[in-house]
Amino acid sequence: MESITLNNGIQCPAVGIGTFMLSPAEAENSVREALKMGYSLVDTANAYVNERAVGRGMKASGVKREEIFLSTKLWPSEYENENAVEETLARLGVDYVDLLYIHQPAGNWLAGYRQLEKAYKEGKAKSIGISNFEGKYIAELETKWEIAPQFIQVEAHPYFTQTELRRTLDKYGVRIMSWYPLGHGDKSLISEPVFAELGKKYGKTPAQVILRWHTQMGFAVIPGSKNVDHIRDNLNILDFTLTDAEMAQIAKLDRGERYYHRTEAQLEQFAAWRPQFEPA
Ligand SMILES: NC(=O)c1ccc[n+]([C@@H]2O[C@H](COP(=O)([O-])OP(=O)(O)OC[C@H]3O[C@@H](n4cnc5c(N)ncnc54)[C@H](OP(=O)(O)O)[C@@H]3O)[C@@H](O)[C@H]2O)c1
Repeated sequence: MESITLNNGIQCPAVGIGTFMLSPAEAENSVREALKMGYSLVDTANAYVNERAVGRGMKASGVKREEIFLSTKLWPSEYENENAVEETLARLGVDYVDLLYIHQPAGNWLAGYRQLEKAYKEGKAKSIGISNFEGKYIAELETKWEIAPQFIQVEAHPYFTQTELRRTLDKYGVRIMSWYPLGHGDKSLISEPVFAELGKKYGKTPAQVILRWHTQMGFAVIPGSKNVDHIRDNLNILDFTLTDAEMAQIAKLDRGERYYHRTEAQLEQFAAWRPQFEPA
């Protein structure tokens, strides 16, 4: 497995499985099957209300805890809950996570970030991250963090490559973990002729070519899937390398256009929403 060296020296696998919008039963199944077939990075969040299921999938896989890079995210409702980290670990059934994010720059997000720093110092989070922080939120956070994050998780794919964000965060060695890496099920990205063409050359599907592009951009990538064949395909991307000319060809697709447009009003709604966690 290729891995990324983080700015604190820790290694993170380049490819993992995402669990957004997976029901508990689907998340348990996808995580178990993914780990059994050789995945070692799993991404979830308080807000996906499937952390207990992810923990069950990890146990059922038979893969040792220390061989799994487990990533989760505190939701804004938890930023001022001083037990948020312990409660998150309890839901997952682990005594540390490999990566802990704050999910949104909403509510008292600085209190949330302080919880990450505390968890990091206590060894409960081996690395920390921010998600969906861009522009003014990063400008404020970078004056206030005591420990710089290792990761930022944001929308990134060939239509939207986060050029400006990378310029801001490269100096700290903060790495990108892409969400919506395949366009979240939208067919237009995956149907771009360049991916079929390159897929033909390398014996890969368009999705595999897109995921390889992410890793060659230096991004960690966590495609979501409840389909075991897709899960298998999504890991099977490290045995070919796109040439510089092919990367340049794909770069022409960059429209600087996101799929998901968040508003300040949504951030307020995020701050007010509380996940209904799966009962123990
Ligand atoms: N931090 C945040 O705010 C945030 C936001 C969104 C997502 N995320 C994270 O990022 C992860 C990835 O994002 P996402 O799951 O929303 O979008 P995505 O990975 O871009 O797309 C998932 C969709 O692609 C399909 N798919 C997966 N593998 C495929 C393949 N090999 N060929 C064809 N189709 C394939 C899936 O369908 P099947 O189930 O049929 O395979 C699903 O419909 C999430 O699961 C989550 O962990 C984070």
